[in-house]
Amino acid sequence: MTGATARSAFTTEPSSADPHTYQTGFGNRFASEAVPNVLPQGMNAPQRVKYDLYSEQLNGSSFVAPRHQIQHFEACFSAANRNVEFVAAQQAWDPLPLLLEHDESSPGSGSGTDFVESIRTIAGQGDPTLREGIAIHVYSANTSMVKRAFCNNDGDLLILPQRGRLNIQTELGWLMVRPGELVVIQAGLRFRVVLPDGPVRGYIQEIFGAHYDLPDLGPVGSNGMALPRDFESPVASFDIEVDKSTWEIMYKLAGSLHLCQQNHTPFDVVAWHGNLVPYKYAIEKFINLANVEKDQADPTIYCVLTAKSKIPGVSLTDFLVFTPKWITTKDTFRPPYYHRNMSTEIMGLIYGRYNGSSHVLEPGGLSYEASYMPHGETYETWKDATTRELKLERVFEDTIAFMFHISVPMFITKWALRGEGGRSLHPSSPTQWDMAKAHFLDHLDEVNLDLKAAGLPSLGEEEEEVKP
Ligand SMILES: *[C@@H]1O[C@H](CO)[C@@H](O)[C@H](O)[C@H]1NC(C)=O
Ligand SMILES: *[C@@H]1O[C@H](CO)[C@@H](O)[C@H](O)[C@H]1NC(C)=O
Ligand SMILES: [Fe+2]
Repeated sequence: MTGATARSAFTTEPSSADPHTYQTGFGNRFASEAVPNVLPQGMNAPQRVKYDLYSEQLNGSSFVAPRHQIQHFEACFSAANRNVEFVAAQQAWDPLPLLLEHDESSPGSGSGTDFVESIRTIAGQGDPTLREGIAIHVYSANTSMVKRAFCNNDGDLLILPQRGRLNIQTELGWLMVRPGELVVIQAGLRFRVVLPDGPVRGYIQEIFGAHYDLPDLGPVGSNGMALPRDFESPVASFDIEVDKSTWEIMYKLAGSLHLCQQNHTPFDVVAWHGNLVPYKYAIEKFINLANVEKDQADPTIYCVLTAKSKIPGVSLTDFLVFTPKWITTKDTFRPPYYHRNMSTEIMGLIYGRYNGSSHVLEPGGLSYEASYMPHGETYETWKDATTRELKLERVFEDTIAFMFHISVPMFITKWALRGEGGRSLHPSSPTQWDMAKAHFLDHLDEVNLDLKAAGLPSLGEEEEEVKP
């Protein structure tokens, strides 16, 4: 197998952590050639392409032969599906166990699990056949995909490695993605995942029928949050195979995998142009905004990427990040305030420590809050936050936590609720709010003085009966 990449202007330099070159920008129309001057100019389908290459549009379809189905994806999130259910209570999951490193000294120790095989659905809403909805998955793999590619026809994947880099070969070129970076691979694009660091683990958010976009900036203007220039897309790269060996392409359609075989590599794109291009983004580059005088800012300021729902003005999901920042506000309750909101909140931790909520969240773990269910800080945190001296403070040092802020209610899979595969669920203790005190009642004397001064009856006093 041989590879080839050619450099064009406006590309990044390789580094020791990432050997690939990228073109930068978000939503750009790129053009990339692994061999100079092969991309047809001024048209897409000339009678004959240079070197007799085939020209193809990505939304061209291919014949799919169903061979077998592996039921680890869920794609139909409705009360009619017995594999999913709706839960109201807060949930939290320990990290999915990492698989073992291959042991060279014990031959036959098992062939391992690759990226696609390892994906398990946690929660979701909607249905890809309606082109509407969302799914949250996790993966934990220990084998590279060899002679095997995946193509998700159901939706775009936002992948967040939490342990180990993913070296992703796509039809449009290579991306090396490490924990701390996100990568988006659009529906319909074939890719395979190579594991240069051994076992990997991470999170996936899949959206059906929408694409990720940068949020509108409004008064924020151009210099904050995720900058378009920090998004990186691959350059054209292809393989040549002389051995005509068999490749397996796995297509995911409505949650089931369909296998088809071909006698040539799918990674044979010599040049391409367009804007349906995978990209990656280093979350550490996110530029935090916050209130600098008083009160807390709305969490929309943590949004990296958003995806629209079918309802105008309402996003399907917003991807928020919590990264190091200064807290400067005066006379302000600084931890997340108590709230009930329409959105479902699913949180994870890439690295570091997150103590912004009442439940335990470990790197690789997940937590869930149902739509409109009350949540917020523990009593101890409330007590500390309401009495401590407020100083300039740094939070989330060496930490990346994230939230899928989803506008719709989510069904949770039975697999996630049962906690199979060594993954345990630790529901929040129902006694966690017992500590909270109704402090108002300790202040009844003061309250009554204030009421009296205002000419109002004291608390507990019978109102005089009004005579007709
Ligand atoms: C994709 O295919 C549809 C027809 O299914 C066509 O209308 C559309 O223009 C195509 N888009 C591109 C970018 O080729
Ligand atoms: C992958 O992990 C499994 C279970 O931990 C182990 O049995 C197997 O040998 C590992 N395979 C590779 C290739 O690392
Ligand atoms: Fe919340």
